[in-house]
Amino acid sequence: MKYDVRICEILKKEEIAKGIYDLTVEAGELAEKAQPGQFAQIYIPGKTLRRPISICSADAAQRTMRFVFEIRGDGTKLLSEIQEGQSLDILAPLGQGFCLGDTSRRALFVGGGIGTPPLLYAARKFGGNASVALGFRNAEAVILEKDFRDAGCKVQIATDDGSYGYHGLVIDCIGQEMPEVVFACGPGPMLRAVSKFAADRGIPCQISLEERMACGIGACLGCACKILRDGREVYGHVCKDGPVFDAQEIVWEVG
Ligand SMILES: Cc1cc2nc3c(=O)[nH]c(=O)nc-3n(C[C@H](O)[C@H](O)[C@H](O)COP(=O)(O)OP(=O)(O)OC[C@H]3O[C@@H](n4cnc5c(N)ncnc54)[C@H](O)[C@@H]3O)c2cc1C
Ligand code: FES
Repeated sequence: MKYDVRICEILKKEEIAKGIYDLTVEAGELAEKAQPGQFAQIYIPGKTLRRPISICSADAAQRTMRFVFEIRGDGTKLLSEIQEGQSLDILAPLGQGFCLGDTSRRALFVGGGIGTPPLLYAARKFGGNASVALGFRNAEAVILEKDFRDAGCKVQIATDDGSYGYHGLVIDCIGQEMPEVVFACGPGPMLRAVSKFAADRGIPCQISLEERMACGIGACLGCACKILRDGREVYGHVCKDGPVFDAQEIVWEVG
């Protein structure tokens, strides 16, 4: 789908957990084009390279898009300092998002930490047919729980230290689920475990990957990753062929 550049006014900005910000921007026609699982390249004044941030949700009627990001380095720190009423230069929507298919199927969404935001837009489409399992470091790091519940999804939270919800890894609280399709985004070990969970049960699974990016549009080879196509290992681009891949296409690094 065709992407575009647009200067978008920040309508709302909120710190929803320590170092994690929730931005809603006026996005015009970008909001109509944006599909669940796609991302944007956001220009940050003073930085040469745009920063890739997932589209957490888009509202075509309100012509808005929402981004939730965590401060990781200089770029995201500067982004957190931009205020409501100021504007962002946004290139979007980019990449291949989730293939949702029939949203009356029982879907399982598994998210870890800052891998949670890209799942919200897709989970909303499944509403009450979605079970959502989210893992975080601790109670203070939990984000978007209310958003998933407001969408009608069944939500389970796991924390590493047991300060909220299930004490342990998110993968350990999905054992009883028998979904018809699985979607996941988060840290590598979690994605690998989710992929195995689905493969062991013969359930289709889509995984959103993260890789360091430069152009974001398939022009620089900055985000090369090994994938399986027609049974052969080839190099793909996370930005153009992904970020969402069929779990069976992913070549997991050893270790
Ligand atoms: C498709 C995609 C979607 C993403 N969605 C989100 C999101 O919704 N919320 C969120 O908080 N973060 C998201 N990220 C991660 C986010 O892009 C990085 O945290 C951010 O680019 C770090 O920039 P920085 O300047 O703060 O850090 P620095 O480490 O100073 O960045 C230096 C350079 O490395 C790149 N880089 C560093 N870490 C990453 C990374 N993990 N992924 C890609 N490039 C990186 C930066 O873009 C920059 O070019 C996403 C990444 C990808 C690839
Ligand atoms: S970031 Fe340039 S090809 Fe993917």
